Amino acid sequence: MGIQAKQINKFYGEHQVLHDVNFTCPSGSTLVLLGPSGAGKSSLLRILNLLEHAQEGGLTINGDEYDFTVGVTETQGQQLRAKVGMVFQQYHLWPHKNVLDNLIEAPIKVLGKSKDTAIAKAKSLLKQLQLSDKADAWPLQLSGGQQQRVAIARALMMEPEILLFDEPTAALDPEITNQVVNIIHELSKTGITQAIVTHEVDFAKKVASHVLYLEQGHVVEFGDRSAFVNPKTQQFSDYLSH
Ligand SMILES: Nc1ncnc2c1ncn2[C@@H]1O[C@H](COP(=O)(O)OP(=O)(O)OP(=O)(O)O)[C@@H](O)[C@H]1O
Ligand SMILES: [Mg+2]
Repeated sequence: MGIQAKQINKFYGEHQVLHDVNFTCPSGSTLVLLGPSGAGKSSLLRILNLLEHAQEGGLTINGDEYDFTVGVTETQGQQLRAKVGMVFQQYHLWPHKNVLDNLIEAPIKVLGKSKDTAIAKAKSLLKQLQLSDKADAWPLQLSGGQQQRVAIARALMMEPEILLFDEPTAALDPEITNQVVNIIHELSKTGITQAIVTHEVDFAKKVASHVLYLEQGHVVEFGDRSAFVNPKTQQFSDYLSH
């Protein structure tokens, strides 16, 4: 269970952006993906919910196996994405829907929940994320931190087994970043597996149970959170000290 990546090779045209990426993360862990700009972090994250496919290698996600060498279908991708939620950096809220409607749309359409059930769940999540007074607001009336929390709530509406975040704290001030840290800690207590791309080492240290450090598409370091204190490689040590 959890997330296993096996020998993943990913190309954009001729350009190889991931090289033989291997790692195994147990169920319930919080994996942080670190590395310089262009290292392949976002590409790897999108592969983990099959928004993109690699050319070679495979994935095992909570027991389901996908072999890119054989090929992965769009239906498999949709089924996986019903279990693996993603919170993007740019939030991707629907601007023409208020917060509540942003939250209940997919559970009703995709999971077949009743409107009443979806609204009850949405209100409970908004309360948990300290957004109760924003249910009727339009996304553009919200601050960046509030939009980010709505995006997290929207992903949680789907009751994902795995939640992926791409730079969830970029452009957030320290107080809101701490709220995101708390949300991630609360989620990890529920047993959900999380994978988080970030550039912020302090944030990474607060949330990570495991860390994957990439450079130019290669895994340089993979380990549990003790790697922040005792990095095995000079490259990761250098990255941490910058
Ligand atoms: N859709 C795409 N088409 C072609 N090349 C792409 C595409 N997406 C990413 N790349 C290239 O793949 C490499 C890895 O990009 P990726 O976005 O995964 O990096 P990243 O580690 O997330 O970087 P950043 O920290 O800047 O977000 C880069 O060289 C990038 O230019
Ligand atoms: Mg990125």
